[in-house]
Amino acid sequence: MTEPHLEETPSFEADPYERKWIVVSLVLLIAFMVTVTIAGFALGFQVPGDETRVDPRTVADSGPWNEPGLRDRGNGEYDAYVIARQYLFDPRTITVPVGSSVTFYLTSIDVQHGFKLQNTNVNMQVVPGEVSRLTVEFDEAGEFDYICNEFCGAGHAAMFGSVVVEADTGGA
Ligand code: CUA
Repeated sequence: MTEPHLEETPSFEADPYERKWIVVSLVLLIAFMVTVTIAGFALGFQVPGDETRVDPRTVADSGPWNEPGLRDRGNGEYDAYVIARQYLFDPRTITVPVGSSVTFYLTSIDVQHGFKLQNTNVNMQVVPGEVSRLTVEFDEAGEFDYICNEFCGAGHAAMFGSVVVEADTGGA
C-alpha cells in the first residue's frame, strides 16, 4: 500500500508583481468612482428615468400623447411630450423662452429610436412601450437640434427637429 503523494502546502502570499497589479486595479476603480461622482453631481449627469410603461399601439390615442408638444407648468418650467416614429419627431419644433427648464418625455409608437439634443447632455434611447424622461435648462438663446441617433430604417437620417430658445425680449 503506497501513501498518497502530498502536495506542498499552498502559499497564500501574493507575488510582488501580482500585488502591484492589485494596487493598480484598486487605484483605477477609485478613479472611476470619483469620475462618476463628479459627473453625477457637478456636471448634472442624469439617468433617463423609466417613468411609465405604455402600450405603443394605443399611446397616441389619449392624453397627453394625443396632443404632443409643450405644456407650460409656470415659473419657467415646461413639459415637452414628443412622439418618435418612422421617420419623424412630433412636434418637429419646440419654442421656449431663455431660462426655461424643460422636461422631455419621449416615447415611440413603432421601433426603437434615439433622441440626442445637440449641445446639451440629453441623449436617450426611445423605446416603444416606455417613456424616457430628462430635464434640461436652457440658459442661452439659440437653436438646439435634436436628432435620431439610433438607426431605425430607410428614413433615419431625416428624423430631426429643433428646440428654439428665444432671447428675453424684456417683456413681462
Ligand atoms: Cu428614428 Cu433613427
